[in-house]
Amino acid sequence: MLLYRKRLRLVRGEGVYVWDERGRRYLDLIAGIGVNVLGHAHPEWVLEMSRQLEKIVVAGPMFEHDERDEMLEELSHWVDYEYVYMGNSGTEAVEAAIKFARLATGRSEIIAMTNAFHGRTLGSLSATWKKKYREGFGPLVPGFKHIPFNNVEAAKEAITRETAAVIFEPIQGEGGIVPAEEEFVKTLRDLTEDVGALLIADEVQSGLRTGKFLATEHYGVRPDIVAMGKGIGNGFPVSLTLTDLEIPRGKHGSTFGGNPLACRAVATTLRILRRDRLVEKAGEKFVEFKGERVVKTRGRGLMIGIVLRRPAGNYVKALQERGFLVNTAGNRVIRLLPPLIIEGGTLEEARKEIEGVLNDII
Ligand SMILES: Cc1ncc(COP(=O)(O)O)c(C=O)c1O
Repeated sequence: MLLYRKRLRLVRGEGVYVWDERGRRYLDLIAGIGVNVLGHAHPEWVLEMSRQLEKIVVAGPMFEHDERDEMLEELSHWVDYEYVYMGNSGTEAVEAAIKFARLATGRSEIIAMTNAFHGRTLGSLSATWKKKYREGFGPLVPGFKHIPFNNVEAAKEAITRETAAVIFEPIQGEGGIVPAEEEFVKTLRDLTEDVGALLIADEVQSGLRTGKFLATEHYGVRPDIVAMGKGIGNGFPVSLTLTDLEIPRGKHGSTFGGNPLACRAVATTLRILRRDRLVEKAGEKFVEFKGERVVKTRGRGLMIGIVLRRPAGNYVKALQERGFLVNTAGNRVIRLLPPLIIEGGTLEEARKEIEGVLNDII
């Protein structure tokens, strides 16, 4: 396999830290792009997963198992959707959402947002905005339309009785950590209801991190379909599509989707998050970054974007050299998606050092 350029080689992780091949330690403020919510090698999670490996890994989607019941029980403490479809990645959760919306409404038009990112399979990619991700893969799936994010008037004009669904991220992740405005989200909810269309919230990145299970809860809005992934299994590849729509058995599915090991990963992650109040606490951990090169800090809870005056790439490298792992979201934004177990004090120390690094670089 070819490596494009020399990149940091990580060999192990523990809690909020990871180590490279030379034994250097880094504070992991990106957590596999928002995945390791319980940090690395969480002892309880590791134990439960190891026990599950010895018991049963894959049962086949046509069988019932206790692990699914346990996962559904844990999930019921957070959300009250009737059905959950389980996939293996965020893009599959979105793909399912799009299919369910078309099936339920008998319509095909999907309205997405400028700067949206929904994944890389063809349906999700058709809802994704950036040319960089789309180019070369055409023709993409027909029926997708993009409207300017946070533009109420554009939404009013675009959403009609032809619309099957509107898909949006409550906080755009790859687009630069840009929160949706309250009036915009409420308008999307009202308009979709008025015309018999469905509202899909892509919470793959924003789920768990903002102080609520779903970021849409901050808006007092209940989407018809929710896509979740990333941290929901604390690193085991698993995703969820939540809905009240009844999809006939056999109409959609996946060989690995909802296997006992995946269900164990979700059930264990949710149990620990609930017991340790990690989701609520995340809402109190947002930090504001300041400095000459910082325009502002955006986001909510532990979904943080530092908007810079200059391209963020060099800063990310410099921070890595100083022992902090972050990445970019868009050209001028440094993104932080730390494990939810991070202590406020650790984050505060990191803030001071990061501000120092940002001000050091010309
Ligand atoms: C909002 C959002 N939706 C969907 C995806 C796709 O998830 P995955 O990479 O697991 O397919 C991502 C990934 O970054 C995302 O941020």
